[in-house]
Amino acid sequence: MKSEQYKEALGQIETLIEEETDLIAGLSNIAAILHNSFKFWWTGFYLVKSENERDVLVVGPFQGPVACNRIQNGKGICGTAWKTKGTIIVDNVHEVENHIACSEESKSEIVVPLISDNVVVGVLDVDSERFSCFNEVDQQYLEQISQLITKKLWS
Ligand code: SME
Repeated sequence: MKSEQYKEALGQIETLIEEETDLIAGLSNIAAILHNSFKFWWTGFYLVKSENERDVLVVGPFQGPVACNRIQNGKGICGTAWKTKGTIIVDNVHEVENHIACSEESKSEIVVPLISDNVVVGVLDVDSERFSCFNEVDQQYLEQISQLITKKLWS
């Protein structure tokens, strides 16, 4: 069952994060744990960076096919989750006008913001090649993982 798989993945992530304080090392292995536990299509992070006095999401550690490098605030599902500071679940990405198609294979998506001191510092983005892959169980555990990440790797 999905929640059992998440509990196992969460345990691995907790152990990893106890021993690893480097941001890139931590995020890389968290992406690998989630991606390989669930066989998602794309699993990874976009991180908020300041470029030319403007904040933008830049692709970070991920597993899966090549993805777009940068996403502006409010653009795509990732940019919308950043702007609204909330998790977004999309059952069918083809029906969302604002969706940024990095891969034709992606059918559904969940994006969870990483929030540190009330500021979005990045997003966790997961894509599936199945429609309606994500529900409140994914949201609950991925939000828990996102909180763990900002608590341990951003402080
Ligand atoms: N689909 C995302 C872009 C990132 S890729 O899926 C990896 C979006 O609409 O924001």
